[in-house]
Amino acid sequence: YRTIDALEAKGKRVLLRADLNVPVKDGRITDRTRIERLCPTIAELANDGARVVICSHFDRPKGKRVPEMSLKPLQEALSAALKRPVAWADDCIGPQAEVAVAAMKDGDILLLENTRFHAGEEKNDPAMAAALASLADAYVNDAFSAAHRAHASTEGVARLLPAYAGRLMEAELKALDAALGNPARPVVAIVGGAKVSTKLDLLGNLSKKVDVLVIGGAMANTFLAAQGHAMGKSLQEAEMHDTARAILEEAKAASCEILLPVDLVVAERFEANAPSRKVGVDAVPADSMALDVGPDTEQAIEQRLRGASTLVWNGPLGAFEIPPFDTATVAVAQIVASLTQSGALKSIGGGGDTVAALRHAGVAERMTYISTAGGAFLEWLEGKTLPGVAALSAG
Ligand code: 3PG
Repeated sequence: YRTIDALEAKGKRVLLRADLNVPVKDGRITDRTRIERLCPTIAELANDGARVVICSHFDRPKGKRVPEMSLKPLQEALSAALKRPVAWADDCIGPQAEVAVAAMKDGDILLLENTRFHAGEEKNDPAMAAALASLADAYVNDAFSAAHRAHASTEGVARLLPAYAGRLMEAELKALDAALGNPARPVVAIVGGAKVSTKLDLLGNLSKKVDVLVIGGAMANTFLAAQGHAMGKSLQEAEMHDTARAILEEAKAASCEILLPVDLVVAERFEANAPSRKVGVDAVPADSMALDVGPDTEQAIEQRLRGASTLVWNGPLGAFEIPPFDTATVAVAQIVASLTQSGALKSIGGGGDTVAALRHAGVAERMTYISTAGGAFLEWLEGKTLPGVAALSAG
């Protein structure tokens, strides 16, 4: 793929695909990370004299104009983050978009309405891609976090215009390559979360690529149960036991060490500050559930991390939203942060809950790289080709 280093931006209309699908609660933006991480690309293009036409999806309006899913509130948010005016067009294609683009001068910035208000977006309709392409002379994709979608604004249009990776896309791809593409070894992966069933492909791919795979969270319960441990009332997937055993076998064949919990923190109820205690994996009481990994497991993870050069982290080790079941996640996150700061470890984290967990641990700024992507990060860990990235290389 080409980056915007190869783009002669001056005087060009540049269609910039952003991911402005930011979390909103009661009409307020609750996390501005995606906005902040996008600003360098916008500022660079505008400073170079491009006419920057920004498009993005927001939420899932399913091809209809849903007023609550308008990108309009993002106009002010972007303008505040950039400290420059951002113009608005009430549609992302058609006469309103065309008139707004025609009115732009070099260095101007325009935000278009939600691409998913048109059914053609998610269908990757060639007519929609052509309508988007007609607005610009070049296309820059800075939406790694939407690159797992083969949509008109992420995939189709990249084939119709000279296409470039924006700075955020470039940073994401470089970090991911350093994590799994061409990593410094040994590589440790920490995978947590609730279900084995949603992370099957991910576990399968990682066990072929990393040296140590640490499994935590409720999904570890399924593995422990599959090995014959009684798990009491713990959340687990009984129908996944065969699969879990197969994953363990495959990892062994690939010389990947799988580190499962050796001890657990259990409680009778999943409640904040419910009385809890540490038990070995062989001693989970019938009336209790595992809600975090225990201190011996923490130590075993720490030991692997001290011997590692690269870490990929997806998913918390315990039910970190509710104290004290955030203990292991926070402790391990702090070890990761200090090893990263000392230069011994390259640490890359991403995917939904992971970023929230790392923020909660207060270490998000001290990791080597935190991805802005949820689903796209997971699909990338699964070893899948992301259509939005592939189209950049084809364009
Ligand atoms: C995300 O938030 O992960 C991306 O913006 C993709 O959103 P989607 O899952 O609605 O396609």
